[in-house]
Amino acid sequence: MTADFLSATRTFYDAVAADYADHFPDDLAHRPLERGLLTAYADLVGPGAEVADLGCGPGRVTRHLAALGLSVFGLDLSESMLAIARRENPGLRFVQGSMLDLDMPDGTLDGVLCWYSSIHTPDDRLPALFGEFRRVLVPGGHLLLAFQVGDAPRRFEDPWGHPVALDFQRRRPERMADLLTETGFTLHSSTVRQSDTDLGESSPQAVLIARS
Ligand SMILES: C[S@@+](CC[C@H](N)C(=O)[O-])C[C@H]1O[C@@H](n2cnc3c(N)ncnc32)[C@H](O)[C@@H]1O
Repeated sequence: MTADFLSATRTFYDAVAADYADHFPDDLAHRPLERGLLTAYADLVGPGAEVADLGCGPGRVTRHLAALGLSVFGLDLSESMLAIARRENPGLRFVQGSMLDLDMPDGTLDGVLCWYSSIHTPDDRLPALFGEFRRVLVPGGHLLLAFQVGDAPRRFEDPWGHPVALDFQRRRPERMADLLTETGFTLHSSTVRQSDTDLGESSPQAVLIARS
């Protein structure tokens, strides 16, 4: 699948991958609520469950899920992100691809995790994205979505001096929950944490879990 937003996303993350990985060395270390939600998610899908971390970036959350006992692999658009993920996590599998067009049969996965990676998919493509997640999940499989809360995108230009730019969507959890329900998911939980300025956050953070 080719689309301008996919090509812009890949170009952006190929350019910033090394700086991104240096700047956010262990994102979860200072986020106890998120660690708790990931532990709950691991319990929901069950030990050894087949899970995809879609938009895995440098693979830190992939590694966290593997340590929680899941059979997890990472997928990302950006080869530069994947190179870092493979280097930092030699025992784990990382593949290149788009989460909108997954190269796997229907009903393959127990879990799909989308950790701040649906944020570059335009609004009008979200139904297709959630439909693709539902296609690859087994009936009763679980989706976890993490994203920034808000009404308008933030545009990042020239990050760390690289001549690239990209929109980061912020969304309302209620709207995302409605879209998931319209796609056939059953909402399990919706958690919102207020922004933490010590972590450099400018918006509240949402984690939604839904069952296929
Ligand atoms: C903000 S980063 C988050 C990375 C990682 N989940 C983390 O929390 O460190 C967004 C990542 O999603 C990836 N991404 C965005 N859209 C994607 C798509 N359609 N398919 C695969 N990866 C995608 C980007 O390449 C990037 O690595």
